Amino acid sequence: MELVGSDSNVLSDGLARIQREVDAAFDAMLPLPEDTRARLIEAMRYAVIGGGKRVRPLLVAATAGMFGVDRDAAVRVGCAVEAIHVYSLIHDDLPCMDDDDLRHGKPTLHLAFDEATAVLAGDSLHALAFEILSETETGGSPSVRAELIATLATASGKDGMAGGQMMDMAADDENYDLHAITRLQQLKTGALLAASVEMGAILGRVPVEGRASLRAYARDIGLAFQIADDLLDVEGDEAAAGKALRKDEGQGKQTFVTLMGADKARGQARALVDQAVGHLSSYGEDAKLLTALARFVVERDR
Ligand code: IPE
Ligand code: IPE
Ligand code: MG
Ligand code: MG
Ligand code: MG
Repeated sequence: MELVGSDSNVLSDGLARIQREVDAAFDAMLPLPEDTRARLIEAMRYAVIGGGKRVRPLLVAATAGMFGVDRDAAVRVGCAVEAIHVYSLIHDDLPCMDDDDLRHGKPTLHLAFDEATAVLAGDSLHALAFEILSETETGGSPSVRAELIATLATASGKDGMAGGQMMDMAADDENYDLHAITRLQQLKTGALLAASVEMGAILGRVPVEGRASLRAYARDIGLAFQIADDLLDVEGDEAAAGKALRKDEGQGKQTFVTLMGADKARGQARALVDQAVGHLSSYGEDAKLLTALARFVVERDR
């Protein structure tokens, strides 16, 4: 399932473009103040500018692009979901959670700054996400913006990322079966990826009845994405990944890989991606970026 020829260009161009746009947008949104909050904003900038693959903003932009949405609006919405994602990583790396010291090839935020600053930078990025979505520059009508806010809020809290993180923390003492692991992954990782596609469709004014195939695509790549992350933890290269690997087992994490072994997990991830791509068939060529992105999800090394 290698990326060949134009598929690989579509993806690398798409990623490079959104990475530039997201970095520039965060740079403009986070000027340094001349008071003692400067350390907080420096910490936010350290975490949010550069580094990440920007898969979630690309999902927003690629979906929105299929429906002719203004690019600046799509980038702003991409920044909102990325702000939530980066906050989740800052908190995920804290000593009270995964206790990691490397992220994006740099010391984690609580080491580069301190724990209190890392908690506050996470809190502030969480708030920033909803500030961005509520602003008129994000475009759309007030009801479009309200739907964007509701979608991201649900995907971030107890019925999304934070709930999944709780299940992940509890995994040390619980014996999860395949059903429970699937639920955990869907919340922890799948929810924000699905919200990214959903928000692209909301910006594109796709009515709820018209979103079924996009939702099915997003659900499948969400699961495949976390399986790939768990495979990377077991088999990946730390320098390429930019984070410490081979930690999940020692921390008692339960994943598809611990449950079914690496080979079966890889097969499962690839099958999910094929299924995801199948859901896009009615969009034809318009979906080529989403298709390339789905394949990247399982072939990536970082
Ligand atoms: C890592 O997400 C954490 C998971 C939810 C699996 P990404 O792999 O998207 O992280 P970055 O933003 O590219 O570093
Ligand atoms: C983190 O999952 C997912 C969220 C932050 C919601 P992991 O703990 O597996 O992510 P990495 O491996 O540290 O990037
Ligand atoms: Mg974790
Ligand atoms: Mg972690
Ligand atoms: Mg991981």
